Amino acid sequence: METIISTDIQQAKSLLQADELIAIPTETVYGLAGNALSTPAIKKIYEVKKRPYHNPLIVHLYESSQIQQYTESPSEMGIYLLKKYSPGPLTVIFQKNSLIPDIVTAGMNQVALRIPKHPITLALLSELEFPIAAPSANPFGYISPTTPAHVLQQLGSTIPFILDGGPCQKGVESTVISASDNQIIVHRLGAFDIDLLFEEDPNLVILNHETGKLTSPGMLKQHYSPRTRLHIYPTQFKAEEHSHLKIGFIGFTTIPSDLPIAHSIVLSKEGDLDEAAFHLYDALHRLDAMQLDLILIETVPSKGLGMAINDRINRAVAKFI
Ligand code: TXA
Ligand code: MG
Repeated sequence: METIISTDIQQAKSLLQADELIAIPTETVYGLAGNALSTPAIKKIYEVKKRPYHNPLIVHLYESSQIQQYTESPSEMGIYLLKKYSPGPLTVIFQKNSLIPDIVTAGMNQVALRIPKHPITLALLSELEFPIAAPSANPFGYISPTTPAHVLQQLGSTIPFILDGGPCQKGVESTVISASDNQIIVHRLGAFDIDLLFEEDPNLVILNHETGKLTSPGMLKQHYSPRTRLHIYPTQFKAEEHSHLKIGFIGFTTIPSDLPIAHSIVLSKEGDLDEAAFHLYDALHRLDAMQLDLILIETVPSKGLGMAINDRINRAVAKFI
């Protein structure tokens, strides 16, 4: 299949109306989009992504006034948070109503809603009579795409159209939360400023695979991985075993001068976490295409957005240890 990369919203709209899938830009990563109210379209999403049917999809709305349209007695706190911080990289889980097909939520009663902050995708959503279900536009388990070129490389021949919105400004996925009775639970760390959530609820709980509570399948231990072996530097680097290999290096602010490195990428010379998040997946995509034996990556300071970046790095390396 020839894949068109274009800014033509009308073409994007016609394809979605015909239950076809397209890739859409958001401020976080590109999504693989289909009509959220159409079971045949949603089936295609799981097939193209090779995603297990037990992993639910995020439903993307145009504006927060639509929350009530697709939910059943939504929590006050959830509505308040999504209204206050949308459009933006915050996804909130609500009780769904019967308009949302069960396949979207993997059979669960909860649906995850978000309003993406990207002008072209908001323009598209404003023209549709249905919301869009969209997981990240990568094959299940691999690195998420932050440019049309990444999408083309990974899903190209399987989808007809990529809506071109340029590179994604945030670079890591949205923060997924649920909120009830003034208690916020973070199911997936992400691009949303975690300090704002701490201000809303100083006792918020961050779930992860170590808590053993897999309420969100996105918290899988192994995820977001390149095909090339990936280790954290310096903790997982074994000089005696690794130094003869062809090595790629992703450094936070600098690259060590005492290693035999074939290709290297710095995430942010200034040590800026926003810039590091913006470059992270592109760096992994680029080094993954270079026929290296090993990619070494440094973690970043674990504060604010750094927590989400380290979460992605740790889950990307989990496949290789
Ligand atoms: O930034 C993003 O969130 C991107 C863009 C395209 O919007 N989307 C994205 O989708 O990252 P995906 O499918 O790759 O990740 C969605 C996450 C998964 O961890 C999934 O398990 C969780 O959200 N999720 C979705 N619906 C849920 C639900 N009802 N309950 C709990 N977790 C849910
Ligand atoms: Mg994903």
